[in-house]
Amino acid sequence: MASVLVASNRGPVSYVRRDDGTLDARRGGGGLVSGLSAISAEDSLWVCAALGEGDREAVRQGVGEPGVRMLDIDPAVYADAYNGIANSVLWFLHHHLYDVPREPVFDAEFRLRWEAYRAYNRAFAEALAEAADEGACVLVQDYHLALVPGQLRELRPDLRIGHFTHTPWASTDYLRMLPQDVREELVWGMLGADELWFHTWSWAFAFMNGAHIDSAVGAAQPLSPTGTPWRGVDHMHWGGPKRTTRVRTFPLGVDAEDLRALAYRPEVDERLARLREEVGPGRRTIARVDRTELSKNILRGLLAYRELLTARPEWRGRVVHLASAYPSRQDLEAYRSYTAAVRELADRINEEFGTADWQPVLVSVQDDFTRSLAVYRMADVALVNPVRDGMNLVAKEIPVVSEAGCALVLSEGAGAYEELREDALTVNPYDVSATAQALHEALSMPAAERAERTERLAAAATALPPQRWFLEQLAALREDPDGE
Ligand code: G6P
Repeated sequence: MASVLVASNRGPVSYVRRDDGTLDARRGGGGLVSGLSAISAEDSLWVCAALGEGDREAVRQGVGEPGVRMLDIDPAVYADAYNGIANSVLWFLHHHLYDVPREPVFDAEFRLRWEAYRAYNRAFAEALAEAADEGACVLVQDYHLALVPGQLRELRPDLRIGHFTHTPWASTDYLRMLPQDVREELVWGMLGADELWFHTWSWAFAFMNGAHIDSAVGAAQPLSPTGTPWRGVDHMHWGGPKRTTRVRTFPLGVDAEDLRALAYRPEVDERLARLREEVGPGRRTIARVDRTELSKNILRGLLAYRELLTARPEWRGRVVHLASAYPSRQDLEAYRSYTAAVRELADRINEEFGTADWQPVLVSVQDDFTRSLAVYRMADVALVNPVRDGMNLVAKEIPVVSEAGCALVLSEGAGAYEELREDALTVNPYDVSATAQALHEALSMPAAERAERTERLAAAATALPPQRWFLEQLAALREDPDGE
C-alpha cells in the first residue's frame, strides 16, 4: 500500500528484450522522475502502462523496479486509447493541430476508440484504488488519463486526487468540436479531482472557460473568494453537483545544479569538440532541439531560416542551423509525413544555399541527450517556436547550460513564454518573416547583452525546479480541503 501515488502513461523505466531473451531496463529522465525522487520510495508507487513487448514481457516475468507498477493492458485497447484517442484526438485538440476542412471526424469508429480510452483509464483507476492507503494522495498525469480522477473518486472517495495537464488546454471552440457527451465526460472526469494543475494560467483559464461556457457542464460555476472570477485569484472553486475542485498553476522549471553537472561531463566535452568541427571555425549557430512533433513548428522554423539566408545574404557561410528533430509517434501517418517533410525542406535549403565548405542545416534525428547538451552549450541562438506547447523545457534548459550566453527566439504559443518573455525575442509562431527578423536580431545581439539576458532567463527558468514543483503539488493536495 502507498500513501503517495503517481499515475502516467509512460513510466520511469521501460524494458527492451535482448537477442538472448533477457530484458534490458532503460531509465527515463524528465521532470516527473526527478520530482518524485524528492520523496521516500518506500511509501510511494508509480503506476504506468506497459508500452511495448519488452514491458509486457517484464510484467509476465514479474521483473520490475520497487515502487513501480506496470499495467499490462490488452494491446488492442492500449493502441486505440493511446494512438486513437490520446495522441490523435486529445493531443490534436489541445494543440489546435486539426486540418479543419477534413478533420476531426467523430463516427462509429471513434466511439469504439473512446470506449477503449475509458477502459484504459479504468485500468489505472482500479490499480490506484487497490494500492492506495486510506486518505492517500494520488497525482495523475496528463491527457492520457483525463478520466481517471472521476473514475477513482467513485471507487475511493477518501483519496486526495490531483491531476496535472502537461499540455496546453484546448480553447473552447476546439473543445466544442467533441461530441457533447464526450466532452462532458472529459470535463467531468477532470473535475473528479480535488486539484487541477496546469503549467500556466493561459491553459488553466482555457480549461475553466470551456467547462463554464459549455452548456454540458453549465452547472459548474466558478466561485472565487474575491468575487472576481478570472484574473487576480490564484485558484478557483467549482461548485458543481459532484464536488469542489481547485485550479492552480505550477510552472515546471529546471534544476540548475543537476543539469549543469550533466552538461559538463567529459563525454559532452568530446561531443562538443566534434560538433565545433562539423560547424566550422568562426561560424554562429542557431539551434533547435525537439521531438519531430507537429506542434513544434519545425517546418516554419526552417522556412524562417531560409528567409533569413535570402533576405540577409551576409549570413550565408557564417551561420549553421543545428536542427535536432528526433522521431516521435511514428505509428501515426501525420507524424511520418511531417518527419519526411522536415527532412525534405532541410535538404532543399542545403541544395539551394550550400557550398563546398558550408552546409547551412545539420539535421540530427538521433534522440541523443549528450549531443543535445553539447548543442545547448555552444548555441548562439536558440529557436523555440512551437505553435502551442504546454511549457517547453528546451527554452528553459538552454540558458542554464549555455557557455557564453544564447539569444532565445521564443514563440508566444509556448507555456514558457509567460515566464521568459522579458528577455527572449518573442515571435508569433505563424509569422515566418517576423521569425526570420528575430533570428537576425538574435544573431546580431552584442555578446554582453546576450550574456545578461541569458543570466536572467536562467534565473527565471530555475524558479520552480522539479523536486519543489512536485512537493508543492503534494502540499497543495494535503491542505485541509475546507481551509484556505
Ligand atoms: C508530451 C506529453 C507527455 C509525453 C511526451 C512524449 O510531453 O505531455 O506526457 O510522455 O509528450 O510523448 P510520448 O507519446 O512519446 O510519451
